[in-house]
Amino acid sequence: MKILVTGGAGFIASHVADAYIELGHEVVIVDNLSSGSKANLNSKAKFIEVDITDKAKIQEIIRQEQPEAINHHAAHIQVGYSVKNPQFDAENNIMGLLHIMEAAKEIPVKKVIMAATGGAMYGNKATPFTEEMKAEPLSPYGISKRAGELYLNYYHELYQIPYISLRYSNVYGPRQNAHGESGVIAIFSEMIAEGKVPAINGDGTHTRDYVYIEDVVRANILALNSSFVGELNIGTQTEISTNEVWRKVVAEMGVSIEEKHVVERPGEQVTSSLDYSKARKILGWEPSVNFDEGVRRVVAWYQNK
Ligand SMILES: NC(=O)c1ccc[n+]([C@@H]2O[C@H](COP(=O)([O-])OP(=O)(O)OC[C@H]3O[C@@H](n4cnc5c(N)ncnc54)[C@H](O)[C@@H]3O)[C@@H](O)[C@H]2O)c1
Repeated sequence: MKILVTGGAGFIASHVADAYIELGHEVVIVDNLSSGSKANLNSKAKFIEVDITDKAKIQEIIRQEQPEAINHHAAHIQVGYSVKNPQFDAENNIMGLLHIMEAAKEIPVKKVIMAATGGAMYGNKATPFTEEMKAEPLSPYGISKRAGELYLNYYHELYQIPYISLRYSNVYGPRQNAHGESGVIAIFSEMIAEGKVPAINGDGTHTRDYVYIEDVVRANILALNSSFVGELNIGTQTEISTNEVWRKVVAEMGVSIEEKHVVERPGEQVTSSLDYSKARKILGWEPSVNFDEGVRRVVAWYQNK
């Protein structure tokens, strides 16, 4: 199958592109390299440097390439920046998707998989979050992802384009950008590997649900072959505090450093964890790499980088 992977120079989609190529699919990657890197590109993929906000260019590419499926990961992903500049977030995450879908409906593509968010989708509710809970995103980033899902539902209803929105929890693994505002495992690992002492925001008791990249890739493979249409949580239903992340990374690095805390970022969600029973029922998906093993692999990757 010919698959257009957007954001394929980035962390998650570069692994997805690798897996699709490994399975024998033909992959075309589009990326503007704003946070992605050419080093992540699979040499067997065709790479086109383009910004998905450039309507004419991205639509021309889709018309020329005629992909059978689109795996959409290109997005602006910084929640804090989305609060400061909601328009920028909407231009990339909502308008970018619309440019793609308006060309996709002409072909028409047979399947769209979109990376959404589970962590920023449900607002401040009791954990674990299920897909049946009302989506009440509290940030422009979360709103842009929910809007994307609603648009995909529209293209499905009107143009019969099947879609699956994968609502990831906090994804971690090799190649994650350690210079953004999220990705605490990458940030801690890279800083400690460079001999620096990372700081924990606040008292470190906030929890997140960390899902390993290999499991996220498997969800993207299963989604490609599934006839399901709709939203699926992809997480572990396990809550891990930032303090636990810090201690685990420090232990795996084999260093002895004192915990350092700085003032909490305002508006931070306190807890987050995703119920993945729907993904298990529909895709046969469940996480296979536990947190200890995942951190071990990430730390080894940063130490050998
Ligand atoms: N990392 C996580 O924990 C997580 C959690 C939930 C959802 N997601 C979603 O998964 C996707 C990938 O995230 P990631 O962690 O791999 O981030 P990333 O920054 O590594 O990847 C995003 C890629 O998209 C590209 N890109 C951004 N804006 C673009 C534009 N306008 N045109 C073309 N390319 C553009 C970037 O250059 C980058 O290569 C995003 O949609 C993100 O919202 C990530």
